[in-house]
Amino acid sequence: MNNKNVSTILNQSTFSKEDIVFLLDLSSDNDIDLLFKKAYEVKLQHLSNKAYFRGLIEFSNYCIKDCLYCGIRKSSEVKRFLMSINDISKMSTWAFNNNYGSVTLQSGERTDKDFIEFSNQAIKEIKKVSNDALGITLCLGEQSYDVYQKWFDLKAHRYLLRIETTNEQLYKSIHPNDSLHSLSNRIDCLKSLKKIGYQVGTGVMIGLPNQTTDMLADDILFFKKMDIDMIGMGPFILSKDTPLYDKAISLGLDSTEAKKYRTLLSLKMIAICRIVLKDVNIAATTALQALDPLGREKGLKAGANILMPIITLPKFRKDYQLYDDKPCLDDTADHCKVCLSSRVHSVGDVIGFNKWGDSPHFKKRNLL
Ligand code: 5AD
Repeated sequence: MNNKNVSTILNQSTFSKEDIVFLLDLSSDNDIDLLFKKAYEVKLQHLSNKAYFRGLIEFSNYCIKDCLYCGIRKSSEVKRFLMSINDISKMSTWAFNNNYGSVTLQSGERTDKDFIEFSNQAIKEIKKVSNDALGITLCLGEQSYDVYQKWFDLKAHRYLLRIETTNEQLYKSIHPNDSLHSLSNRIDCLKSLKKIGYQVGTGVMIGLPNQTTDMLADDILFFKKMDIDMIGMGPFILSKDTPLYDKAISLGLDSTEAKKYRTLLSLKMIAICRIVLKDVNIAATTALQALDPLGREKGLKAGANILMPIITLPKFRKDYQLYDDKPCLDDTADHCKVCLSSRVHSVGDVIGFNKWGDSPHFKKRNLL
């Protein structure tokens, strides 16, 4: 048992696993409010009230993985698509003309030559249409060291690879049991990305079946141990026709109460990561908004400083649903810009237009 109180813990500069579990388990509105206030304070102290946009381009839903929770897993029957380089050109030109500092390239996982070549071209195209101005974050899964190196040489400079959970048992329960879905390989990938020189991001899903706050505390300590620069994480959301759906339903995870719990737990994770890790970039993800219409604003208030407005061309959006009730499906990039801008302003933050908004943590660790 932790016999400290919330204020004492929030004023510490280092945090034990016990402290983190204590904060994750806070239940009174008053205590939770203190946690969020402290996180916002730390954000202002180590970063600013600027939120940076990463225009999200979801360019393909082909996937070789069969993750038990994901709507575009290999076995799912969605209509598959791969955009053209011309589409990439259109979306990145839009991002550039609208003063977005960066784009994020995301897709289902593939490791074949055609995919690697397409991604090479996509990175080059983004740099070309913006005269090198747009920053690029990649979310293209587990790849070989050489492929990561190639993309870095083409000037992609950030890479986000979620670890999903650091608990071996839980990882196994949400992935097929084969070598394509290996926790240790993911950890090796994160190490490779760091060695190459990327700003490296990772994250977890929050509120998975049988996940405990003890496991989430270990996840945060893992981020710290790996000296991670960026975090992208969000609540687990049920996705129909996936193997985890029935299990989640039987555990009651689809109830309003359970969704509220997962939203709150996700916000606590953002806040605690901000307080423990201080100067990393943290995204308020779209998944937060899927469970709570005000999810992303609340994320900014809990210490997040990155938003990923979807700029995927509308005709592809309905086929890129990793989970149910994904917001913004009928929107255009223009809608998403206006909508997110007002969300940012509503919490007293401002948008860092035309700036990469790199992770201060990355800059500092490179000065050492
Ligand atoms: N709920 C929440 N997040 C999900 N992802 C995939 N499926 C789901 C789901 N059902 C997340 C994973 C993956 C990222 C691209 O999307 O964390 O890494």
